[in-house]
Amino acid sequence: MRDEAEQIRQVRRIFNQVVPVYDLLNRVLSLREDVRWRRFVARSLRLGAGARVLDVATGTGDLALAVAGLPQKPLVVGLDLVPAMLGPAQKKQRASGARLALLAGDGTRLPFADATFDAVTIAFGIRNIPRRVAAMAEMRRVLKPGGRLYVLEFTAPQGRLVRAMYLRYLSRLLPWLGGMVSGDQASYRYLAETILEFPAPADFRREMAQAGLITPRSHALTRGIAWVHVAEKASAPPKTGRG
Ligand SMILES: C[S@@+](CC[C@H](N)C(=O)[O-])C[C@H]1O[C@@H](n2cnc3c(N)ncnc32)[C@H](O)[C@@H]1O
Repeated sequence: MRDEAEQIRQVRRIFNQVVPVYDLLNRVLSLREDVRWRRFVARSLRLGAGARVLDVATGTGDLALAVAGLPQKPLVVGLDLVPAMLGPAQKKQRASGARLALLAGDGTRLPFADATFDAVTIAFGIRNIPRRVAAMAEMRRVLKPGGRLYVLEFTAPQGRLVRAMYLRYLSRLLPWLGGMVSGDQASYRYLAETILEFPAPADFRREMAQAGLITPRSHALTRGIAWVHVAEKASAPPKTGRG
């Protein structure tokens, strides 16, 4: 177990450094699957007209922009701990004219009133947050009753062959390639470790339930390298009253 404050410092340091190459590395290291995964999450959102969506750990904004581009034209807020990561997101927002507001902030202390959003999303961010259950409880707080949390995250796959290949990729290719492009191999070793330490889908669903969310379920993408985990905030109980 890493020290929590040290982990947060490391996350800030890594994402401050990686900004200029983050999008390129994502595309190369995932063979562009990451674009498909985020699009899948965006299309899974069931939104009505005038919906509001919060994308926590929005980084360079790719999921937030995919959501903002949905036909329902939701209003999207993207929030990230590392202001530098929002620079590319701001450029993309300006170029696309998307209904996307970006702000720096901590996903574990959201600057929003209770029940503000119809959906909350987080892509490849939850594994960087030391207290996951508390963070998801905070995301639940800002969801409207009946609203959903969508978590897109890596997990080391369970199938023997794919797992063996993936572990090689994580321990060798990822740090080597990441190090070559960004000049910081240690960061990519850290990222690989966080993927290996991330709970299996059933265990993660238990954490969602601990955060007070209901009906958690998971969907595997690309042979279980990435997963979408979805859970809901319970709907408000029907009002009972006389007359
Ligand atoms: C791997 S990137 C993912 C970015 C983006 N969601 C994507 O799909 O590419 C992880 C992001 O989580 C952010 N992050 C880490 N801890 C956070 C926290 N406590 N609150 C908000 N953002 C956080 C980092 O700054 C980084 O931008």
